[in-house]
This record gives sequence, C-alpha cells and structure tokens, in this order.
Amino acid sequence: MADTAALFQPIHLGAIASPNRIAMAPLTRGRAGESRIPNDLMVEYYRQRASAGVIIAEATAISEQGYGWDQAPGIYNDAQVAGWQKITDAVHEAGGKILLQLWHVGRASHTDFQPNGERPVSSSAIAIQGEAHTPQGKKTYEVPRALELNEIPGIIQQYVNATKRAMSAGFDGVEVHGANGYLLDQFLRDGVNQRTDAYGGSIENRARLMLEVTQAVIATWSADRVGLRLSPNSTFNDLSDSNTVATFTYVAEQLEPLGLAYLHVVEALPGHFMHTEGERAAPAIRKAFSGPLILNGGYDAESGADAIASGAADLISYGIPFIANPDLPARFRSGAELNAPDPATFYSRGKQGYTDYPSMQAS
Ligand SMILES: Cc1cc2nc3c(=O)[nH]c(=O)nc-3n(C[C@H](O)[C@H](O)[C@H](O)COP(=O)(O)O)c2cc1C
Repeated sequence: MADTAALFQPIHLGAIASPNRIAMAPLTRGRAGESRIPNDLMVEYYRQRASAGVIIAEATAISEQGYGWDQAPGIYNDAQVAGWQKITDAVHEAGGKILLQLWHVGRASHTDFQPNGERPVSSSAIAIQGEAHTPQGKKTYEVPRALELNEIPGIIQQYVNATKRAMSAGFDGVEVHGANGYLLDQFLRDGVNQRTDAYGGSIENRARLMLEVTQAVIATWSADRVGLRLSPNSTFNDLSDSNTVATFTYVAEQLEPLGLAYLHVVEALPGHFMHTEGERAAPAIRKAFSGPLILNGGYDAESGADAIASGAADLISYGIPFIANPDLPARFRSGAELNAPDPATFYSRGKQGYTDYPSMQAS
C-alpha cells in the first residue's frame, strides 16, 4: 500500500482546524429544489461526508442576479440561511468543518433566472459558447450586459451580504469562488474582459474586482475565515487568458499580505478531463503565497500524499472521489477500494447517486 501518511497530519486553515489534509471540493449537485433552499436530503449528504478535514460546500448564489444553475442553493434570504443552519449543525455534530462557496455566475446565467427577466451581467458583452442549465432544460447562453462602473459597489455588497448570512448560518468560513469562468474570473481573464475602465486592460485592473471582493469579505468576517478559489488553466465556461502565469502570480502576490485562511487552486493533473495544456501556474502561486495552499484536480490518495510530502501543496481537495465515497478519508487510510462514481447522477434529482453511495461499514 502506498504511503499516504502525509494526508493524515492536522493543519490549521487560518482559524479553522482540519484534522487531516483531505478537503472536500465544492460540488454543485442541483438538489435544492425550485425554492433554492437547502433541505433534509442535503443535510444527510453533508453529514455523511463530515470526516473530510474541511468540507467546502457547493457553489451557492449570493443573489438572484448571481444565480445560474437550476436547483442550486442560494444564500440571499432568511429561509436559505435556516436551511443551511441545519446542514452546518449536522456537520458540526458529526465532528466536521464546513465552509460555503460564494457564487456569482455572471454571464453563466440566463434571463430565465434573472429578476424581471433581465440580462445576465459580466465584465463585457460577450456570450459563452455553450448552454445554460435552466428550469426548461439546456438553453443557449445569451449575450450578457457589461456592468456599469457605478454597479460595481453593488456587486461587492452582494458578497458582503452573503458573507453575513453565511456567518449567521453557522459556517466555519467562506470560500470566494474566483474560479471556473464565473463572474470574478470573467473580470480577471482577458479571454472575456475587454473593459477600458479601471476594471479592464492591465492585469492589475482585471484583478481589481476579485481583490476588492476578497478584501470586503475579509472586512466583513475575518481573514482567517476566508479562502479564495482560482482555476488558472481552466477553459470551463469558455474562458481563457493570454498570460496565465503572470496573471495568477500577480493575484497571489496581492493576496499574500491579506492573511487568508487558504488559497485553493484547481489545476487538473494530466489524464483528468479538466486538464489543459500550458504552463502550470500553481508552482508560481506557491512561491508568491505563503499561506495554506489547497490543490485540486484528478488526485488520488497517492498523488495527493506525494504533493503534500514534496511541499507542492498543504492540502488536496477531492471532488468526484467524495461524490462516490462519503467515507473517503477512512478509505484512503486503510487502502480500501473506492466506489465508482456515476456521472449520470451528478446533477440529477433525489437521493440516487447522492446519498446512497455506501460507506465501508455498510458495504
Ligand atoms: C458534479 C460537479 C460539480 C462541481 N461543482 C463545483 C462547484 O460548485 N464549485 C467549484 O468551484 N467547482 C465545482 N466542480 C469542480 C470540482 O470542485 C473539482 O475541481 C473537480 O471535480 C476536479 O477535482 P476531482 O478530480 O477531485 O474531482 C464541480 C465538479 C463536478 C464533477
């Protein structure tokens, strides 16, 4: 059996004590129903996975404007806070830690989701080539509306409001979703951002919104309760960048003095469906940012332990392995076989493929 001891050392992510180096990656599962309110089925799903060092709960809309995935949850009204409270209570009772991923999808929305059928917003008026998951099934993405300069404070306020609600719902912290081609990434990367104001053009300008949001979230809660997720090489949501390493090195340098709980970098290993060619930014980020670094994308127990032992990462987050294995840390520790994931149920409804994967004791 491979030496995976490095995965089982405790660590602090800012104020959050993690008993191991195995984080659960944020995973959109579309089980919150039309109400977008976390429910008992979701309580059970997260409770089952409480042995993760930390759970980073699924991307959760910070506002109606920021919503863009059918039956994903929100954190912009009191009923959603009450629903999340049941989940954080259950995870805490089971001895776990849980953070919430704060999500504004920007142009990855659809008028069907928007208040008053308005257009989705982004850095620039350029549509995603692809399809949105709307209540009426998949629909072609529309051309978004470029945010006006005077709307930016309102966007930042949405993150502040969601952070306050996450605090009152009992989370251990929040993760700002800066990855995967959603709003903050749509500002950061020049594959979309064609603005000519203070939020476009240079790397400094394109990074401005992400950094202002991060600082506002920190000011609302505390740096040691706030993480940020980045995906330097991801092409998801039709996004790209002409100078990935320079862009993300700059972001990491700016984050360095803020005292974040952690930085979370998605950069999938070769062979993984999310892997893209090109120079990896994670090593440069590692050099520029001295706080805890979580790496993600295609890791197993052995490659995860190796990444930690070599100093490339402090934790590894696991996505699909946690979908199929609620007791992933115990399986990694014992070298047990893993359940196979069923992609057909990743975004389906109900408990099938959600809460019915067996734990070792039950299998
Ligand atoms: C079903 C599914 C849902 C996902 N939802 C999110 C999400 O809500 N937020 C996010 O940042 N990444 C999301 N991702 C990406 C994962 O967090 C992770 O980066 C990816 O699965 C690669 O890690 P893995 O190889 O350990 O699964 C999702 C991936 C899958 C397969």
